Amino acid sequence: MHELQDILEQAQQQFAAMNDEAELEQAKAKYLGKEGSLTQLLKGLGKLSAAERPAAGARINQVKQGIEAALQQRRDALAQQKLAQKLAAESLDVTLPGRGLGMGGLHPVTRTLQRIEQLFHSLGFATADGPEIEHDFYNFTALNIPENHPARAMHDTFYLDPQHVLRTHTSPVQVHYMEENTPPLKIISPGRVYRVDSDATHSPMFHQVEGLWVDQDISFANLKGVVQDFLQRFFEQYDLQVRFRPSFFPFTEPSAEMDMSWKGGWLEIGGCGMVHPNVLKHVNIDSEKYLGFAFGLGVERLAMLRYGVNDLRLFYESDLRFLKQFN
Ligand code: DAH
Repeated sequence: MHELQDILEQAQQQFAAMNDEAELEQAKAKYLGKEGSLTQLLKGLGKLSAAERPAAGARINQVKQGIEAALQQRRDALAQQKLAQKLAAESLDVTLPGRGLGMGGLHPVTRTLQRIEQLFHSLGFATADGPEIEHDFYNFTALNIPENHPARAMHDTFYLDPQHVLRTHTSPVQVHYMEENTPPLKIISPGRVYRVDSDATHSPMFHQVEGLWVDQDISFANLKGVVQDFLQRFFEQYDLQVRFRPSFFPFTEPSAEMDMSWKGGWLEIGGCGMVHPNVLKHVNIDSEKYLGFAFGLGVERLAMLRYGVNDLRLFYESDLRFLKQFN
């Protein structure tokens, strides 16, 4: 029975030296498999006398349990080792200092839009919104721009189909708003507009702010006052001058281009005028009773002047070196 003790010790030693799970399982066969040494001994029990058999059987089983225990112990140890290696490889040093959160910031055009809205709100204007995909009727017809009128070509228009365009200006919001509300009306409408145009001062998508004030006794003098007050506060230059040059827009009569004084010269910043009676007629507002003015300002132009940006395209290139300067 020394033999049994030897087998147990041999198994224990062999298992303890194994570092690979698959090899360990193979080594197990040497003792407990069909041809394994212990299995052979169990088979040999039949040759013993009935008196010897129970004691011998019990001892063999004891050794078998010992081998199984050694096997299990090694299996556990290897699994434990594997886990420890994995944890070490994936370890995080939670005590390292953070890399800093990107806080993000507002785009300069967004900042400009917010500033414009704030200033007009303080003058009693509400903000109105309109769709960027416009029916031809709102973008042109209702604004007194008839079919085949050269004004339709004046804006190089993105047509989606013969009836729908990407709005070329914010003026159609005037029409939507007047359809849904009754005077007095006092709104601005900031938003994106689109034209087939691209160079240092033109982008195919840009922003305008439309203004509209309709009431019983609104005059061109109110228009001048509102625009001048807005620009002086926007640029924080209280001696800033505004000039109105006679011009033509189909939806206003009379119409003017607005210029502001800048570095000894004049810069054009938008168009304006008294709302044309035909526009009021389209939305069932009595033009004998009500008058109104309207204007349209270019937002990027205002942002470029305020921040000293000389190329409009910088706003839309998403270059963080540029954008970070505003935050
Ligand atoms: N919609 C015109 C444009 O995009 C700008 C404009 C001119 C708007 C005169 C107005 C206006 O409201 O009265 O060129």
